[in-house]
Parts: sequence; structure tokens; C-alpha cells
Amino acid sequence: MRILGIESSCDETAAAVVEDGSRLLSNVVNSQIDIHSAFGGVVPEVAARSHLEVILPVIDRAVVEAYVVGHPEFIGVEGEDLRKSAWAEVDAIACTTMPGLIGSLLIGSLTARTLARLKNKPFYPVHHVEAHVYANFLTRESPPEFPMLALIVSGGHSQIVLFRNHGDYQMIGQTQDDAVGEAFDKVAKILGLPYPGGPSIAAAAESGNPHKYHFPKAKMSGEYDFSFSGLKTAVLRTVQSECGQDHTFPSSGLAELLNDEQRHDFAASFRFVAIETLVDKIIAAFHEFAPKSVVIAGGVAADRELRRQLSEKSPIKIAFPEPKFCTDNAAMVASLGFFMAQKVAPADPKNIEILPSISMTKTAWNLRA
Ligand code: KG4
Ligand code: ZN
Repeated sequence: MRILGIESSCDETAAAVVEDGSRLLSNVVNSQIDIHSAFGGVVPEVAARSHLEVILPVIDRAVVEAYVVGHPEFIGVEGEDLRKSAWAEVDAIACTTMPGLIGSLLIGSLTARTLARLKNKPFYPVHHVEAHVYANFLTRESPPEFPMLALIVSGGHSQIVLFRNHGDYQMIGQTQDDAVGEAFDKVAKILGLPYPGGPSIAAAAESGNPHKYHFPKAKMSGEYDFSFSGLKTAVLRTVQSECGQDHTFPSSGLAELLNDEQRHDFAASFRFVAIETLVDKIIAAFHEFAPKSVVIAGGVAADRELRRQLSEKSPIKIAFPEPKFCTDNAAMVASLGFFMAQKVAPADPKNIEILPSISMTKTAWNLRA
């Protein structure tokens, strides 16, 4: 079964075709990072406008590229006949309809719903955070086994979820304030590193000393819960005092007072503690729940330090998803759509609401199963 996935919940416009939840036939991602980095973060109105400009060409490319994989004689060929044949090989459409930026979600879901009606394809609305987990089912000979413990770490979410099966899961811990990716982005801003903070902190940290500064870890009442807002403030206070300023000095003025060595040491020390916090919790959860597999997902799952610490501390071998499937993409959406299609009836594309803020524990599986 071939599913066309469509993703537009934040600042990536993406479409992909995946066969049987695993075999990647095409994967097109149009990132808006260059547009938003000038503002130091995602500007919702700009994001929606950019999705609108590129979404149809992105989808068209994904559908045509997937077709050409099985029909190499059509490489480089253009035309309506080719498009018709390519669409005929799409069995269903899955689209992120929750959670995310309202304008961004609207462009993707309205486009997907319209195409589902026009092309007469079953339609599966998908939860973005749940879809991140399905990066682990892509291009893998042997998929992760259940029960499966997932550490989901993105710009908007940090949570540990225990999956008993597809669509059958339980949240066992989550952040009580900032997501870890958000902390990377905010600390990057303090240090004068470009948006998005994950990759720029990682690059700066490579030449820094992770043990130069000691930042505290939050103590939480929930054993598997996180908090990253205190860590971000601890970095701010330490940078202020390292620069000879008090706590009233504005964070926006600090970057120019730091030299490169300090910047790299701060990046490395912050990253080390943030990642260690995640790793210690997932390892503790592993010992309590004894899952058959552990997976990591979301933009921060691309981080090499996370992979290094996890490999060192995990009692079982973890197969990490390719970094390009960790940040936002539509292949993960198509994969989840496939597993959903095995268990859940398709939705009516005339009648789908977007939900900008909803937990993955209250999604389509539960609502429509
Ligand atoms: O999953 P994602 O692409 O979008 C959301 O659903 O939020 O995650 C984006 C987040 C950003 O906060 C970004 O700084 C972080 O993931 N990120 C990384 C890396 N690449 C992106 N964090 C650490 N290391 C990376 N290589
Ligand atoms: Zn995401």
C-alpha cells in the first residue's frame, strides 16, 4: 500500500510516498529555515504564506518521483499522462492535521483534503508528534518491536511514551515547561548562535569543554517528567556573571561580550546536561518497563551527543533513525498513515478540523477506532 504523506505543521513543507510503512519511494522537504533565521525563530504568518507558495509543487514532485522509481523509462519525462499514472499508484493520503501553527496546518490540511476528494483517495489525519516516532519504521529491515519505549524530543515536545502496539500507548513522562528543542533554540539566541539552535549549538559544542560550566538538573515530582526552563535560566545567569554583568543585563546584549572559547564551552556544557537529563530518564524508564526496543524521535534526536550517551548507557542496542527523518518530514507521516490504515477507517475529508494544540494520547486512534 502506497501512502502519500503531507506535512506542513511548522516551517517545513514536505511530501513523501512510502510503501507499506517502510519503503521510501520519494521524500521532498522544502525548509523555510533561511527565511525564518533572519528573525531568530519561526514567524507564523510568513510560514503559512511560504507553505501556500510551494505546497503543490512539493506534492507533485513527491508523487512523480515515487512513480519514476518503478518506471525508470519516465525519468526526465514531463506531462499530464505521467501525472495521471503517478497518482493512480497512490493508494491513500495521510496529512498532519494536529498539533502545530494554525495557519501552517490549514494550508497542508486543506490541500490534502482537496486532493483526497479530487483524486478519490482515502484520507488519514495524523498527529505530528506521533508521526515523529514513525521515522523509526522507515527503511528498516526489521522494525522496532513492541513494547517500545519512545523518547520524543522536538522543538515543541519532550516526552517519553510507552507503545504497547500501533495506536496503543501511554505517556509516562513529559516536560512541565519548555521542550528541549526550545531550550536549544533559546540558549543559542543567548550565545549569539543562529536559529535553529540544535545544529548550531552542536557545531559550537564540538570545540567546547562540556565540563567547564556546571548547570543544575531539575528535580521533578514525576519520575519521568522534564523541565528545561530552569536550565535555560541557569545558562543565562552564568553567562551574565561570566561577562561581569548582573541579572538585570538584557540577554540580547550578551552575545557580543562573549569570546569564541566561552561560547563553545557554554554550548558544550549546556548540551551535555540537557542530553544527560534525557538519557538518564529514558534509561530509568527502560529498567522499569523492560521494553523490547527503544526509539528516539523528533528534531533533537538528530543530535550526536544524544546518540553517543544513549549508546554508552543503554543495556540494549538502539537503531537510530537517519537524521533527515528526525527533523520535520512527510515520510514519517506516510509511515504512520500506513499503520493507521491497517486498523482505523479513513476520515471524511469534507469534515476534518485542524487541532493546533492536542496531546497525542487523544488522537485519531482513540477518536475513530
Ligand atoms: O521535530 P522538529 O524538526 O520540529 C518540531 O516538531 O518542533 O524539531 C525542531 C527542533 C528545534 O528546536 C531544533 O533546534 C532541534 O529540533 N534540532 C536539533 C538538531 N536539529 C534540529 N537539536 C539538536 N541537534 C540537532 N542536530
Ligand atoms: Zn516536528
